[in-house]
Amino acid sequence: MERLRVVGGASLRGSVHVSGAKNSSLKLMAATLLAEGRSSLLDVPAITDVEYMSELLSRLGAEVSRQGTTVTVDVPEKVAHEAPYELVRRLRASICVLGPLLARCGAADVALPGGDAIGSRGLDMHIAGLERLGAHVEVQHGYVVARAPGGLKGAMIGLDFPSVGATENILMAAVLADGETVLDNVAREPEIIDICEMLTNMGAKIDGAGTSTLRVQGVDRLRPVQHTTVPDRIVAGTWAVAALMTRGDVTVTNGRAEHLELVLDKLMAAGAVVETHGQGGFRVAMSGRPRAIDVVTLPYPGFPTDLQPMVVALNALADGTAMITENVYEARFMFVNELARLGADVRIDGHHAVVRGRETLSGAPVIATDIRAGAGLVLAGLVAEGETLVSAVHHIDRGYPDFVGQLNQLGADVTREPDPDRFDD
Ligand code: EPU
Repeated sequence: MERLRVVGGASLRGSVHVSGAKNSSLKLMAATLLAEGRSSLLDVPAITDVEYMSELLSRLGAEVSRQGTTVTVDVPEKVAHEAPYELVRRLRASICVLGPLLARCGAADVALPGGDAIGSRGLDMHIAGLERLGAHVEVQHGYVVARAPGGLKGAMIGLDFPSVGATENILMAAVLADGETVLDNVAREPEIIDICEMLTNMGAKIDGAGTSTLRVQGVDRLRPVQHTTVPDRIVAGTWAVAALMTRGDVTVTNGRAEHLELVLDKLMAAGAVVETHGQGGFRVAMSGRPRAIDVVTLPYPGFPTDLQPMVVALNALADGTAMITENVYEARFMFVNELARLGADVRIDGHHAVVRGRETLSGAPVIATDIRAGAGLVLAGLVAEGETLVSAVHHIDRGYPDFVGQLNQLGADVTREPDPDRFDD
């Protein structure tokens, strides 16, 4: 087990490059299963979640290799259809092989990933959608067991909530179904547009990417593809908040400002100067203490829940009181108990958090409970007086490639070291 030692006080300055999105790469990797042959994914981030997904695809029979930022997946004619618990439990996103396996093999046994530190994370919409496509789905002995021996058939499907994962799973099943599928109230995240683009280049027929309705005409087969991953808007947003909190001046390259419109607006409301920079980049500069900003998390284009811990940390130091409302996960405020150890004044009432800004925070040992909580705690550590020790850094490694290297390149003082106090998680 390792931890990060964060010495507070530095202003982040300089330029930082953002890689492809974790939450796209993992799904694009799953989508390669839909076509026999060799697909190449470019700009895949060097994070542990990608390693876990590679292991899962290998277990299903694919050959996966990485060269630099390119991941190649060679998919055999016959793929195995069982995603076992020992792999799935490490990576919730492995549930996104369910749709592709069902479409490709007519069968899928995928272990239930279970809940985690941010909420229960149900699968009811994934399952209901696949059933509408004609699959027989049961949960047995901790597995989602799905069968469609006669193939899948297009259908009209409406989601109760624009779930990212359910949209992806049903879409990946529908592209090889017989006939037309109309999928309503779908997620509109840039990662959904990314997978639609990739599937279309594989030969799928999809209309409406980026809107609330996807229309899919099923095709008999897809071909392998080369595809470049959309940049990671959550990593880009993390750098933007870090620049603001540390009263720095950071240019984010390969960070699409248009995917962060609401986030950047909020940072301007807090007092930051935000400018677009060159092609596909932006700059965030800040002097003085931020003003408190209210935030409500919602599916895209609303404020992303994955940046909620960072704005709670920002408000912990801001001038004024902010109300943060979390609408996506019921337990995503858990991490504020750790932030409180740094002196943050946060009161939780259901899915609202009231954050009263303090002039200073003070460094202390804290534990990262998930990827984003970990990043939020590191940002708080950057502005806290003294040293903050962030344990369970493996959570951060799941989503932020070379976080420590990039922080230090911007002038932070962060070191990675063995954690003598923790042996497991
Ligand atoms: N939900 C259900 N039933 C379902 C599907 C979802 O109740 O069938 C609930 C979930 O429990 C959750 C909410 O709906 O409370 C939103 O879930 P969604 O399906 O949209 O999220 P996801 O696909 O499981 C992805 C990202 C998350 C990100 C969310 C929302 C990946 C691998 N994960 O999760 O990313 O927070 O979308 O944008 O793409 C992260 O990167 O740290 C992370 C948690």
